[in-house]
Amino acid sequence: MRQRMISIALLAVVAILVTGAMMSEDKHPFAPNVDMTTGAIRVPDNYTEWLALGTWTHAHTDEKLDKMGPGIHEYHVVYTQPETLAYYQQHRRFPDGAVLVKELSNAKTMAMTTGPAVGHGTTIKGWFVLVRDTEGRFKDSRLWGDGWAWSLFNADDPTHTVSKDYKTECVPCHIPARQLAPEKAVDADKWIYSFGYPVLQK
Ligand code: HEC
Repeated sequence: MRQRMISIALLAVVAILVTGAMMSEDKHPFAPNVDMTTGAIRVPDNYTEWLALGTWTHAHTDEKLDKMGPGIHEYHVVYTQPETLAYYQQHRRFPDGAVLVKELSNAKTMAMTTGPAVGHGTTIKGWFVLVRDTEGRFKDSRLWGDGWAWSLFNADDPTHTVSKDYKTECVPCHIPARQLAPEKAVDADKWIYSFGYPVLQK
């Protein structure tokens, strides 16, 4: 009888330990820049050590052109984790936890020994961040949905998102990406302007 009670007690302890381990597993961040308790997103600390997927260059045509002169006026450099690229090249889709950081910076154009109009990045303007979520986490948050977490950050605060609702602040502008996406792309991946990242297709 006593032995049986000891076994039951032992089983109970094991059950508690296993449950605890599973729960802490659940809390384990699936992406480096997500608070798993609140769903808050921040700009990943070390994203400049990741790889640059591609760069978009902007040449203004409005009154800024008169003010700044012709050339490149803004750069958008998109970074991701090295393992995201490796996964994409193998499976043709973004993995759960893939982070895309679009860093916006001002640019200056000048004559250099390589050419008459050469642009280079100067100061950071802010960041747009996407985190791939294949499991539909944080359903109550207006920054999570359609397979991604969506967030905008100003240059002075990479830890607090300034966007409030991805459905009105992000999605309308990403609808054109869907027409341009590879036909076979997973639905959520069609939100991404992936033609701008030729390295994905290697
Ligand atoms: C004014 C339209 C517009 C808005 C608003 C917008 N995007 Fe984008 N986004 C784009 C375009 C166009 C690109 C690619 C070209 C570029 O950056 O100029 C892009 C690219 C991105 C990228 C790089 C990956 C990709 O799809 O190519 C991220 C990350 C991103 N956007 C996140 C967001 C988030 C998060 C929001 C909302 C907070 C948002 N965007 C709002 C138009 C927009």
